Parts: sequence; C-alpha cells; structure tokens
Amino acid sequence: MRRIGVIPGDGIGPEVVDSGMMVLDVLQDNFDLELDITEYDIGSERYLMTGELITEDEFEELGSLDAIYFGAIGDPRVAPGVLEKGVLLAMRARFDQYINLRPVRSWHPFVPLRADVDFEIDFLRENTEDFYMGIGGSISPDERTTSLAVDRRLYHLDVDVSFGGDVDQDFAFEMGILSRKGVERFARYAFEFAADKGADKVTLVDKANVCSSIYGFQREVFEGMSESYGIGLEYMFVDAMAMALVRRPETFSVVAVPNLFGDILTDLAAEVQGGIGLAASGNINPDGVSMFEPVHGSAPDIAGQGIANPFASLLALGMLLDRIGRDDLGDGLRSAISAALDAGESTGDLGGSLGTEGVTDAVIAHMLR
Ligand code: NAD
Ligand code: IPM
Ligand code: MN
Repeated sequence: MRRIGVIPGDGIGPEVVDSGMMVLDVLQDNFDLELDITEYDIGSERYLMTGELITEDEFEELGSLDAIYFGAIGDPRVAPGVLEKGVLLAMRARFDQYINLRPVRSWHPFVPLRADVDFEIDFLRENTEDFYMGIGGSISPDERTTSLAVDRRLYHLDVDVSFGGDVDQDFAFEMGILSRKGVERFARYAFEFAADKGADKVTLVDKANVCSSIYGFQREVFEGMSESYGIGLEYMFVDAMAMALVRRPETFSVVAVPNLFGDILTDLAAEVQGGIGLAASGNINPDGVSMFEPVHGSAPDIAGQGIANPFASLLALGMLLDRIGRDDLGDGLRSAISAALDAGESTGDLGGSLGTEGVTDAVIAHMLR
C-alpha cells in the first residue's frame, strides 16, 4: 500500500487533478494497484478564508508520504508570489526536492515547429537555489540595511545586506546564490541521469558571460564531474539556448539548467513539443518525498470551463507511478495518451474538440483496450 497526497490547488488545478484521480480509480480497479490517498485543501480558497498557506502538521504529514500529486497554485485575488512562494516553493524547499525533471518529447503530430525531427530531451532544472532563494528586499535612504534568512535542508543562511554610497533613493534587489553542496548534487544527478539514459553529453545552460560568479562556480563543479563520469559537457548560454531549442531540439538530450532560466526555458520547450498542456514535471528528492505536477499554472483565464487539457497532469501522474515502482502502469498510461493524441482526441489548445472529461474518458478507454 502506497500513501499518496493530493493537492488540487487553484484554477484548473482541481480540474486536471480530477482527471488523474479518475485514471487512478481505473488503475486501482483493474491493475492490482492499491493506494491510500489523502486530499489536502491547500490553496487560495483556504488562504482567503483563514490566512493559512501550509500548516506545520501538513508539512509533517506530506513529508512522510510516498509521493505527492499536485495541480497548480495561483489566484488573481491574491498578490503574485504569496501562494506561489508560500505553497509551491515552500514544499520544494522543505522537502528538498532539488531536481525538477521536465521531459520534452516530440508528440507528433503536435510538434508545430519541427515536425520533421524526433527529440527526447530531459530538462533537469535545479530546484532549490539560484534566484529562487527568496533573498531579496529593498533599501531606502532611511533603512539602508536589512537582514534576511533562508532555510534549506543543506544549510541555514543569515544574510545581512547593507547599502552605502549615494542612497538618496529606493533600491530593490534579489540575490542569486549557489552552494557547493547544492551544485555538486545537481551535477552528480545530471551525470548519473545521462549515464542511465545512455546520453553522451550533458548540456549545461547558464549566463556565465554575465553572472560569472555563480555560473562560473557552477561550471567548475560540472567540469570536474564530467571528467570523473567520462561523459561530455557542453555549455550553452541561455539566450542562445532559447534559439537552439526552437531550431534544433533534436541535438539535445540531458539539459542541466539553473532554477530561473529553467523555469523560462521549459515553458518554451513545452511549446516546441506541442503545447504547455503536454508538459509534466517531477520535483525530485531521490531520498525523500517527490512531488509531481504539470508545468503549467492555474490558468485563471480558462478555469471552471471544463476545457483544460489534462494530458500534462496525466503525464505527471505517469511520472508518479514510475516513482512508486509501477513504471509498468506509467508506461501504459503514456501509451494510452499517445494513442489518444494519434486519434485526435484532445482539447482545443491541441486542435481537438473534446473537454477535459472527454479526453480523460478517451485515455481511459485506450488504457482498458
Ligand atoms: P499558466 O500556465 O497558468 O497559463 C498560461 C497560458 O496557458 C494561459 O493562456 C492558459 O489558459 C494556458 N494553459 C495553461 N495550462 C493549460 C491547460 N492545461 N490546458 C489548456 N490551456 C492551458 O500561466 P500564467 O497565466 O502565467 O499563470 C497563472 C497563475 O498560475 C499565476 O498565479 C501563476 O503564478 C501560477 N502558476 C503556477 C504554477 C504552478 O502551480 N506550478 C506554474 C505556473 C504559473
Ligand atoms: C513552475 C512555476 C513556479 C516556478 C512558480 C509558480 C513558483 O512557474 O513550476 O514552473 O517558477 O517554478
Ligand atoms: Mn513556470
């Protein structure tokens, strides 16, 4: 019996997670899968009512599970960052899910830009450091210093910031920070992933030509690791990488990318593969609880209409099944999704005419075939 936590969240989150729950029901009824599922009402509704983001009890309980299935978070009624940082980033940090695995596949015929090539790219986005440390603030002529703190499983940091000189106006700042242990485990994961996949190189994306302190440091660590693993290392600046992803996606296999650039590039990569509605991700802690979710957000513009594409959420569920040792079921689900795509059974964003439920029914029908 595996224990799974489900957090539907906001906007289309509950709609696409419902789709996953329907699939899980079918798997449990037909394929010798037994799960103990607990749902959590974490999200904007509860926050607006009670001011609660995630309670300490919830952190404790979620941390003890075998996996978490997450929908999306974010609500136009709440200031940007409150829920995103207070819920999603808080869990990634607390559970030390230091790799965000985002697979990108050529899902023909939905590859709009390069339907002539096949690609199988795995983005490994570092998920706890860089410009996502939450070390930011502002300085004014009256308050020229500020003290900040950050907690990670790897360390606790106190950062005191003091501005001197011409402080005759307000300044705002946000720090990007990498730790040696953080980069080392990221690099190790990337080279081991490449070895398992049979890839001959890891592509490391950065902006070492400008943010040389953090990304120069990161290059040194990756370089040493490349030698000890005997796997190639290719550097790409993030701007050129954006271009290359559109022009020649088939030349990449394992892409290691720091947190902020990884966020941006994986939305771009999602479109290269056919749309954000097909992009799934796993927030991985190899030794702890991992969390699986679509790459997309709460999509308030289409929420409540029953038209959200559930494929990304179902692909995330597939990754969750892999994680709990049921890759046989993960493979089956991916095949069913592929069959539905081939049959044109999709939502409007992929040119189809079905709603969320219609697509879910189609996938289930392929699973049972
Ligand atoms: P978004 O990903 O929610 O939506 C971007 C566009 O893609 C919208 O036009 C939306 O309708 C469309 N889209 C997204 N998912 C879709 C799906 N499954 N089917 C069909 N169309 C889909 O990004 P946004 O609009 O920038 O952000 C909305 C909110 O979500 C914000 O509060 C943001 O902070 C949050 N967000 C949360 C997550 C997360 O929970 N992991 C990720 C990204 C954004
Ligand atoms: C994502 C999202 C999150 C991120 C936000 C909502 C905090 O955009 O999962 O890609 O930036 O990582
Ligand atoms: Mn994002």
